[in-house]
Amino acid sequence: MMTGTHLSNDSLEQLHEDLAAANMAPTWKYIADFVSKEPKATYRPWLWRWNEILPLLQRAGDLITPDRGAERRSMEHVNPDLKPYYSTSHTIATAVQLVKAGERAPAHRHATGAIRFAASSKGGRVYTKVQGERLMMEENDLILTPSWAWHEHANETDHDIVWLDALDFPLVNLLKTSIFEPGEGAVCADKPDNYTRDALGLYRTVGGGDYSEAQPTLRYPWVEMRAALDRRSGDKGCPHDGILLEYINPLSSGPTLPTLSCRAQLLRDGERLKAHRATASTIYYVIAGSGSTVIDGQLFEWQKGDVFVVPIWAWHEHHNGTGDAYLFSITDQPAMERLGLYREEALQESGGHQSVSTSFRSDSRERNHEA
Ligand SMILES: [Fe+2]
Ligand SMILES: [Fe+2]
Repeated sequence: MMTGTHLSNDSLEQLHEDLAAANMAPTWKYIADFVSKEPKATYRPWLWRWNEILPLLQRAGDLITPDRGAERRSMEHVNPDLKPYYSTSHTIATAVQLVKAGERAPAHRHATGAIRFAASSKGGRVYTKVQGERLMMEENDLILTPSWAWHEHANETDHDIVWLDALDFPLVNLLKTSIFEPGEGAVCADKPDNYTRDALGLYRTVGGGDYSEAQPTLRYPWVEMRAALDRRSGDKGCPHDGILLEYINPLSSGPTLPTLSCRAQLLRDGERLKAHRATASTIYYVIAGSGSTVIDGQLFEWQKGDVFVVPIWAWHEHHNGTGDAYLFSITDQPAMERLGLYREEALQESGGHQSVSTSFRSDSRERNHEA
């Protein structure tokens, strides 16, 4: 038998008022606020030009010293709609980092997983040391610093290095799982060069035991990735991605990191790909070449060194210019797949191509101001 107070002169308005006072919300009134009919990106696509960013980084090179006062000399690509989060997409933040000739950046570790992509390097003894293993950074090499791996940087050459960082800290912060620990002195026993590649590749020490790191601490040389892409240049390729290769985790054969997949892509001379969209956000770095990407009807023209972000559920299609172009990209697709939330669809109308309504203006400062 039901009990309780029944108000003879009750009204819906009164009920809503009483629910609010009891910290309850009527689903019938608010459902559209918390269950949208399709994925909604609350931020825009954006592009950062290498030739605008580099002078700022060089000024930071004169003003900032990487020691305990400035853990890293890096500058985040902050989406103008995500300023409170210092992030590029809702889950990924990228940055450019400068380590000048002779400099070191001290060891630390964090729950955030990260990668480096050596955008501008003359090679030599410039490296990130991860869990005691030196990973050399030649131009366009990919270096992994997985979650909770100790890492420090050293540039023992006489030339500066600039790399792209990509981190999953916006996702980690959303999940309230951020942990950071600074390191002092030698935080890990040194390992020989190539230790991880040997252990996870074709050779290992007999009786040496299994590889003990939770995630591989690897370097993926560009010379190998580029050769792998070029060997596939005669393939038909995917209508949306052309020739696209993922950097895999050799322990699991899965994505690069649990939360992030790193990829390199070859767009052939004049290649015009078709539009698709997915419940993943992707950040691109232009390794070489020039072309354009249409994102939700907006044209983004890019060239070497530029970084641009494709938000979640945004239609996007790449058009290459003359000659081969190579793109490096980082996507949160693995995180979405692990959560059972990954979806993807191809644009069916207009032969799979969007109509272009606007072009992204290179004067981002003015545009940012208007927004
Ligand atoms: Fe770090
Ligand atoms: Fe795509």
